[in-house]
Amino acid sequence: MATTNGTIPSPAPTDVDVLIIGAGFSGISTIYRTRKLGLKSLILESGSDFGGVWYHNRYPGARVDSEWPYYQLNIPEVYRTFSFSERFPGHAELRKYMAHLDKTLDLKKDTIFNAHVNDCSWDEKSGRWTVKTKQGHVATAKYLVLCTGLLHRRHYPEFPGLENFKGEIHHSGFWPEEKSTKGKKVALIGAGATAVQITQEVAKDADELTIFMRRPSYCLPMMQRKLNELENRGFQAYYETLFREGRKSFAGFPSPMAGRSALQGTAEEREALMNDLWTRGGFQFMTGFGDITVNKDANKVVYEFWQKKIAERMRPGKKRDLMAPPVDKMPYFFGTKRCPLEQDYYECVDQDNVDVVNMNEQKIKTFVDEGIVFEDGTEKKFDMLILATGFDSFSGS
Ligand SMILES: Cc1cc2nc3c(=O)[nH]c(=O)nc-3n(C[C@H](O)[C@H](O)[C@H](O)COP(=O)(O)OP(=O)(O)OC[C@H]3O[C@@H](n4cnc5c(N)ncnc54)[C@H](O)[C@@H]3O)c2cc1C
Ligand SMILES: NC(=O)c1ccc[n+]([C@@H]2O[C@H](COP(=O)([O-])OP(=O)(O)OC[C@H]3O[C@@H](n4cnc5c(N)ncnc54)[C@H](OP(=O)(O)O)[C@@H]3O)[C@@H](O)[C@H]2O)c1
Repeated sequence: MATTNGTIPSPAPTDVDVLIIGAGFSGISTIYRTRKLGLKSLILESGSDFGGVWYHNRYPGARVDSEWPYYQLNIPEVYRTFSFSERFPGHAELRKYMAHLDKTLDLKKDTIFNAHVNDCSWDEKSGRWTVKTKQGHVATAKYLVLCTGLLHRRHYPEFPGLENFKGEIHHSGFWPEEKSTKGKKVALIGAGATAVQITQEVAKDADELTIFMRRPSYCLPMMQRKLNELENRGFQAYYETLFREGRKSFAGFPSPMAGRSALQGTAEEREALMNDLWTRGGFQFMTGFGDITVNKDANKVVYEFWQKKIAERMRPGKKRDLMAPPVDKMPYFFGTKRCPLEQDYYECVDQDNVDVVNMNEQKIKTFVDEGIVFEDGTEKKFDMLILATGFDSFSGS
């Protein structure tokens, strides 16, 4: 029998009822429930602790876009004994929450870390799975549950000459603990949810930040705020209702998907409603209308409002035109790509030490030892390259 808690003296066969691959939210929720059914269960996890994406993603500014109180597991003994400190908690707090899950549910005794599964086979005759890991573990079980997530395999685009670059290269999904960008010239590729969060930190820290972008995100205000113990305690009476409503809903959020049209009412009434949704924070503005993804006119009305809100936070010029283009240059329909939440993203982009390169026009010819040479012959020098280029989602894991 293998010992657990992240180390095994020598890989030995393990036989259980349920084998779970992955120790993120899904794997933990699964073991909690299979144990309750009286099934002997074991988690195999390639990382060395609990958390899943929150174990792997420690880039500057990493935090949730799904707010407390519903981005947590529906396990009463856990939520009654844990308090979050912010409406949208950061990655370090998520790891604290994972440690609390471990302690409350005594998870480590049924988890093997540093165990990357690379082979699963089903034997029809015995009705059992045999699962092997790269590190040499072998385990058998009647049931196999894949909780491997969808944002696990990092996406490294093939940029020309990248191997020539002599500075540091970091992917957001594998950020070295305590790595600082202070005093550095940083290049950031990407403008998705991750890049937005990185920008908000690095712009304040680095000497220079250059964002390489194909298309902007349409960010919405996070309306972050601190939470106190009383608020956490007071809310607990409503958790069951929130979890129940979330489960019934379109995307797990305990608020109904609005069926209203973005075209209804007078222009003044629409403006007032959009302002109301905007100031609530979170995804309320994106999910506030039922027709923005099926009606171009409705989409236009919402985009125009968004564009006006963002443009008034930036100085006129190239960066503003790229980040919040006017409606006749809208790069893609509003809401067809998930809107990230931001706190001061647009003010950060507007800082003098931040530049934005439109990769559709200024194409990379090649990376060189000190930076990038563009096709028009111009160069950009930097010390550190951050790839916020996402993941090989869905099929990757
Ligand atoms: C930076 C970031 C922020 C996010 N914020 C939000 C948010 O605010 N709201 C929201 O709803 N979603 C968010 N997500 C999506 C997130 O994926 C889910 O919320 C959730 O954490 C997924 O949990 P999971 O357990 O299903 O998968 P994961 O957390 O991805 O866990 C899967 C685990 O499986 C392990 N694994 C994979 N393959 C193997 C293998 N072959 N062998 C062994 N182990 C393996 C991985 O190491 C990983 O630990 C975010 C994602 C990222 C990257
Ligand atoms: N708080 C949160 O909720 C949170 C935070 C971070 C991440 N996430 C989730 O994690 C997932 C991944 O987010 P992410 O931001 O890491 O990745 P992403 O959304 O896939 O964004 C990747 C970015 O890299 C760019 N990119 C990719 N390949 C490129 C190439 N070859 N050349 C130039 N640019 C390239 C993309 O440009 P294009 O847009 O032009 O393709 C995009 O800007 C998403 O589901 C996101 O919602 C959530």
